[in-house]
Amino acid sequence: MASSSASASAVALLLLVLFFFSSSASAQLSPTFYNTSCPNAISIIRRAVMAAVKREPRMAASLLRLHFHDCFGCDGSLLLDDTSTFTGEKTANPNNNSLRGFEVIDRIKSSLESACKQVVSCADILAVAARDSVVAVGGPSWGVELGRRDSTTASLSSANTDIPGPTSNLSTLISSFTGKGLSIADMVALSGAHTIGKARCTMFRTRIYNETNIDSSFACLLRLNCSMSGGGDNALSSLDMLTPTMFDSNYYVDLVNMKGLLHSDQELYNGGLVDSQVVSYSNDSSKFFSDFANAMVLEWAHVRKEFNMKAHELARKGFEAGISKSKMVIGNEGIGAQGIA
Ligand code: HEM
Repeated sequence: MASSSASASAVALLLLVLFFFSSSASAQLSPTFYNTSCPNAISIIRRAVMAAVKREPRMAASLLRLHFHDCFGCDGSLLLDDTSTFTGEKTANPNNNSLRGFEVIDRIKSSLESACKQVVSCADILAVAARDSVVAVGGPSWGVELGRRDSTTASLSSANTDIPGPTSNLSTLISSFTGKGLSIADMVALSGAHTIGKARCTMFRTRIYNETNIDSSFACLLRLNCSMSGGGDNALSSLDMLTPTMFDSNYYVDLVNMKGLLHSDQELYNGGLVDSQVVSYSNDSSKFFSDFANAMVLEWAHVRKEFNMKAHELARKGFEAGISKSKMVIGNEGIGAQGIA
């Protein structure tokens, strides 16, 4: 009898602790998170992004991609340099000699430090810069849920395994995105980011010389700037040839016309289960815009879900170890800055 009432109180206490963590974790994330602590944060980021894109239109693409590659965690870990205890993600295969725009993020961070010291996280800077980049080149806008904390560590091996590569087939792409808690439809919408920016010859050489599901005149044109054997690995071509610096739905028109630059791009329109979504976006840019914006918010939010799961796990461990919740240090929305593993 005594033991059953003890276990009932234990369950009640556990539920209370879980509630505390899950509700406080999501309550604090908000688009207005910095309104009081750093009222100019959002405009500082917007102005810097606008200036960078004006200087070089491709920068919009590079900043958008930085956020995507950070978002297998959405915790700023992408920006960390190697230390004696870990190797950062900058040298991971999908990132090395490929990611651009770090200097723009550094500039924004230093302006923010002058305006409000140690307030705005790098993860938030990346997310807002990605949104502002899309807007700067004519794309949709969305509200970024702010208040994430930065990681104090990074994982080279996760970056190598989690970020999909250009030779991925449809099922690999699907598992990579669904593994992040996104749907197949989100994956197709987010891939529309390839409506801007460039890729290196080494990323699409096999496609333009060996594949058959490619428009032949498109392949011939690309071969002029990307030789079959060796050399020219870094020669660039636009992911969307027609409007490479405009965020529009032309990427999907390209796919329907068999003009996807990467093998992974054309996999979205290759007789598989997402063909119809590609056709729909190729005819309806407003549908693409709203699905893209929603998927960007979801990409950000999925880690929130993971965080809540981690918080639950921590609460469980704390409960089992008999420590009080006040002794557990937990950030606004990330785990790391305070060192919880
Ligand atoms: C679906 C799976 C994806 C694959 C396999 C993929 C792969 C790639 C590759 C190989 C490049 C060229 C890199 C180089 O040449 O160095 C690239 C560029 C780019 N990717 Fe993706 N990507 C994917 C999804 C995404 C998503 C979801 C986003 C953003 C939401 C994104 C944004 C970009 C942008 C904007 C560029 C151009 C960057 C620039 O010009 O600096 N990609 N991607």
